[in-house]
Amino acid sequence: MFQPISPAELRVLINRQPRVRLGHLPTPLEFCPRLTETLGGPKIYIKRDDCTGLAFGGNKTRQLEFTVAQGIEQGADVLVGGAGSQSNHCRQLSAAAAKQGVDCAIVVVKDHKSGTIQGNLLLDNLLGAHVEMVEVDSQEFLDEAKEELVARLERDGRKPFVVMQSANRPFGALGYALCVAELADQFERIKETPTTVVVCSGSCTQPGLIFGNQVLGMDMRVIGIRPIQWSYNIKEAFLGVLKRMNEVLGMEVPFSKSDILNLDQYIGPEGYGYCSPDGNEALRLFAKTEGILLEPIYTGKAMAGLMDLVKIGEIGPDETVVFVHTGGTPALFAYADELIAQS
Ligand SMILES: Cc1ncc(COP(=O)(O)O)c(C=O)c1O
Repeated sequence: MFQPISPAELRVLINRQPRVRLGHLPTPLEFCPRLTETLGGPKIYIKRDDCTGLAFGGNKTRQLEFTVAQGIEQGADVLVGGAGSQSNHCRQLSAAAAKQGVDCAIVVVKDHKSGTIQGNLLLDNLLGAHVEMVEVDSQEFLDEAKEELVARLERDGRKPFVVMQSANRPFGALGYALCVAELADQFERIKETPTTVVVCSGSCTQPGLIFGNQVLGMDMRVIGIRPIQWSYNIKEAFLGVLKRMNEVLGMEVPFSKSDILNLDQYIGPEGYGYCSPDGNEALRLFAKTEGILLEPIYTGKAMAGLMDLVKIGEIGPDETVVFVHTGGTPALFAYADELIAQS
């Protein structure tokens, strides 16, 4: 039978991996008394990963500490990435590259937000990234554009490294296993026992949290709320990430499909990259009760999910819940019209 290890032991194991320091860690854990009272039920805590630093913070900081380190180890002089035009990943990758003294080149989808230089797109530019816009249906089809960009850079004698391709993701997830170690220490200090974690995730953050939860024997339910409908099976993808994390760390932590609960019903009627009425409402309620800003595409929708799960009794009134704020707030400014219209 698998024996859980301590947060300190997990840190030792993970810190054997290549890592560049990018974040302001540990991030605060805050109690949300007014939201708790408003929802009339579980105690709600928030893990402030919007305060991780690195150009306005967010969940990518923890991931990039390990994914960028892979590239730096291989001698990369330009970090390559790509996603939607309001990508938080691209903004934080641009900042990570600047901090490491290498270049950044990104391909972003020419989408309904790429016509205005605002929010994350503005920050990519200020951080000195080379940005190319490509016409594809969604970010899932950016691989070809990235390959083409890499080939061009190589022809120019550069050493590109593509961050967050699938082989790279398990390293990103290590950052979120460490986040659970922080949570374990923080809850130990306040003598509380968290029962459920709610997080917006579709690729790295949730598998990292699941790994940390299991390896430390925390016994929390980790509920992921995805912002996007991928074409692939998310449970299989997450199990693949968990398996690889085990290999990288030389461990045999057991995982099965039943450890993975990732919900798609809060993406909203218009899909990825568009506001949802429930998400915007949750964002406003949270801002008004706790003075903390979410954003409409990821964390607002995840908070709407948390509120709904409380309402339908899936999260019980006696629970202690941690909402992981994965950041993304610069996008607020790119969605001003929708945020005002849907209020
Ligand atoms: C603010 C925010 N939250 C959550 C996510 C989901 O992160 P991941 O899919 O890496 O777990 C992202 C990234 O896409 C994001 O930008």
